[in-house]
Amino acid sequence: MFSARNDDQVKIAPSILSADFGRLGSQVQEAEQAGADWIHVDVMDGHFVPNITIGPLVVKALGPVTSLPLDVHLMIESPERYIEAFGQAGADNITVHVETCPHLHRTLQLIRETGSGVGVTLNPATPLSMVGPVLDQVDLVLIMSVNPGFGGQKLIPQALAKVRSLRTMIEGMDHPPVIEIDGGINRTTIRDVVAAGADVLVMGSAIFGADEGIGPALESLRGLAAKNRSA
Ligand code: DX5
Ligand code: ZN
Repeated sequence: MFSARNDDQVKIAPSILSADFGRLGSQVQEAEQAGADWIHVDVMDGHFVPNITIGPLVVKALGPVTSLPLDVHLMIESPERYIEAFGQAGADNITVHVETCPHLHRTLQLIRETGSGVGVTLNPATPLSMVGPVLDQVDLVLIMSVNPGFGGQKLIPQALAKVRSLRTMIEGMDHPPVIEIDGGINRTTIRDVVAAGADVLVMGSAIFGADEGIGPALESLRGLAAKNRSA
């Protein structure tokens, strides 16, 4: 499921946060047919972030709907309490915020034990050095390019510098983590995001909220991403 930067094109992970939840299954299938690589699932608890979204039941329900990896982003306090449930529900990756994990190393171990891919993420104001000690323990690092909680926000440009720094930090590692970026990626910002060195782009409103429809939006964003991959 994971792949390093040079082996293929950038991956696109549509975030179902911006999907029509009344037609979630068909919207995910439309994204899959249009060539999505992962399905990004935003889990919010109304405590760590102001919004409330979905739990393991929805992840489980998506299993039979799509063959794509389910990329679960936990924006919840005490995520260790729910890791097993998300793993059993079929999460292919589970990503936790450093801000929610006083015992980060242990929490990442817990994810590893479920058999899911191990991800760590950090808010825009959290320094990249917070993930330094666990880089060899994770399969992906997610750089938040908005403050988590809602779709449709504007990309915070400092996140691009973080992507570049992370790219340098992981250079030379035997098994470098994949660099994912989440928030405010659209037709205008996608070039810079790809040029900064991201491997996986999470996009919600630019795909599920696009006037032209999910498939055409995804295909045209992929075209824009490809043009900048080698930048
Ligand atoms: C924000 C979520 C994102 C969100 C991105 O808290 O983590 O995954 O869906 O939405 P856009 O692409 O609209 O910024
Ligand atoms: Zn997310």
